Amino acid sequence: MTQLSDGIATRAPRNRTLSLTAEERQCYESRLLRLDGPAQLSEVSGRTICQDIFSALPLLPADSVDLLIADPPYNLSKTFNQESFTSVSMAEYERWLDCWIGETVRLLKPTASIYLCGDWRSSTAIQRACEKYFTIRNRITWEREKGRGAEHNWKNCSEDIWFCTLGRKYTFNVDAVKLKRRILAPYTETDGKPKGWQQAENGRYRLTYPSNLWTDITVPFWSMPENTDHPTQKPEKLIAKIILASSHETDVVFDPFLGSGTSSVVAKKTKRRFFGVEIDPFYGCLAEKRLAGVDQDSSIQGYSEGVFWERNTLSEQQNQAAKAARSRNTPLFDEP
Ligand SMILES: C[S@@+](CC[C@H](N)C(=O)[O-])C[C@H]1O[C@@H](n2cnc3c(N)ncnc32)[C@H](O)[C@@H]1O
Repeated sequence: MTQLSDGIATRAPRNRTLSLTAEERQCYESRLLRLDGPAQLSEVSGRTICQDIFSALPLLPADSVDLLIADPPYNLSKTFNQESFTSVSMAEYERWLDCWIGETVRLLKPTASIYLCGDWRSSTAIQRACEKYFTIRNRITWEREKGRGAEHNWKNCSEDIWFCTLGRKYTFNVDAVKLKRRILAPYTETDGKPKGWQQAENGRYRLTYPSNLWTDITVPFWSMPENTDHPTQKPEKLIAKIILASSHETDVVFDPFLGSGTSSVVAKKTKRRFFGVEIDPFYGCLAEKRLAGVDQDSSIQGYSEGVFWERNTLSEQQNQAAKAARSRNTPLFDEP
């Protein structure tokens, strides 16, 4: 990849990473919202709010959110475009988590679900902060595969997602998040009928209940149309599982650390209402560009026909789409 003087990178032909021209940046920046007084749900719905989460939270509408998805900066020294986050002591990180998590409670409906992402190091602090305000229902581990090899330690390639609810009553649509798995041992009943599996054109599959170990999702790759220059972008497939399991159509999804907009984009694709806060205008603009693209393409890679597919297992229909894409040199599905 080479950098041009206007900041737009030239990329390899198969690289589908979403970028912004100077004109697009100007256009999408004008769509970003900045709150300076209390806002109604109708004012923030569908919008990307560009400001510090600590200034936004007191102004956001009370009792309005069905699903909170938070992917905060992990406790690592990391630069996100203009913003830098410096690693602090675990006690200090926990205090920081506590400050904004406590403030989100006012926004939640009594039946709300909350998902909070972290890595192995920040995970215990997240657990303790969540316990203070919510009922923890599960810890999901996502095997994200990509991670730097280490000479003297295990390669870090998993993340935790804490699943909590505010109360005892909450939404969980298990049928919306089943996993389609290729089966290795096709057991049959005594009458010869398949035992819990189906024969499809391209193999034998079982629809399985989703577990708290997610191994079917890659990080966004440069060849995937959802990819942006955000350094810690979550895959749409991962957020789709959360949204489909824990909300209904027209429910409200809120992401306080929106980044490149994945939560809002998937909420739009799945017909939920949404709003999000992101401090950095460049990422806010990426979110807006992605949201605009949903009108042309609302597909979610790895999710089709109402099921989540194990990586690299495609339906016939997907196979044909992939074949067509390959002939255009643009792969549609998960990279190995
Ligand atoms: C881990 S990333 C989220 C990535 C996002 N899930 C995605 O798919 O693109 C965290 C984001 O929080 C933003 N951020 C950091 N501090 C913030 C603050 N105080 N208020 C609002 N956003 C903040 C960063 O700019 C970064 O984009």
